[in-house]
Amino acid sequence: MLRVVESIEAVREACDEARKAGKRVGLVPTMGALHEGHLQLVEACREEAEFVVVSIFVNPTQFGPSEDFTRYPRTLEADVAGCEKAGADLIFAPSASTMYPRGFSATHVEVAGISDMLEGASRPGHFRGVATVVLKLFTIVQPDVAHFGAKDYQQQLVIRRMVEDLNVRVAVRVVPTVREADGLAMSSRNRYLSPEQRAAATVLSRALFSARDAVHAGLRQGDRVRQILRETIECERLANLDYAEVADADTLEPLGDWEPGRRVVALLAVRVGSTRLIDNLVLAE
Ligand code: PAJ
Repeated sequence: MLRVVESIEAVREACDEARKAGKRVGLVPTMGALHEGHLQLVEACREEAEFVVVSIFVNPTQFGPSEDFTRYPRTLEADVAGCEKAGADLIFAPSASTMYPRGFSATHVEVAGISDMLEGASRPGHFRGVATVVLKLFTIVQPDVAHFGAKDYQQQLVIRRMVEDLNVRVAVRVVPTVREADGLAMSSRNRYLSPEQRAAATVLSRALFSARDAVHAGLRQGDRVRQILRETIECERLANLDYAEVADADTLEPLGDWEPGRRVVALLAVRVGSTRLIDNLVLAE
């Protein structure tokens, strides 16, 4: 039976009990407003862990002052039903004062380098908020395994680097991006889109798929691939490009021409109306 708890003590007690019973503990950190992408993380986690915790916490410290923290969708009832179906055992849904009893955390995790480019450059402080809250969740739940989505490509790199650098005893798994039938990557923010904007939002995946097709056909020039991405986005009247990058898939270093065998990822951030969407695709491995 799925339980929903709000306190750190309750989640610790439940996880200790599971561990005593010889169960592996899995964690899927989320901000709620769950969709099929999140639920696939829960299902993947279930395959590796006999006790699956889903955290639902809209983390204020990873939002900038002019971002959508207050209007971020909160749908706890539907989230509980989805988690139950996907096989979760416990939902940890703390309040902000449970996670930040002094209103903030004086201690931060800063994953230098990888946090500073792309999303980090557009959203200063974002990855510091993400890394700090994820480490807090790791120390509260102490999971054996934790699942993240490839949808947030840079985020999973930041978390993997943090885990490695700080010797956190957790196996980090990354689950492929789940998309709508027309290619749009599922996201809690898609519900901000009007029908017209929703149709325009397919431009991200269209651009990424065109780039991948070109690379599969033999193109290995970063500038040309970036041009394909940019030109596709520019053709969509309702879309405004924030960044289009072609980068080394492990370091996110921007690429010029590359040699065969290089792992390459394309990353996009695009505004459709006032909604900022991100997506990415590995072009070559
Ligand atoms: P949130 O945006 O709710 O996403 C929670 C997890 O679901 C992340 O690992 C994200 O990459 C994954 N996810 C989202 N959409 C996906 C999709 N279409 N396919 C596959 N996985 C998808 O990411 C966060 O929350 C927060 O930053 C968090 C890690 C919880 C820290 O606050």
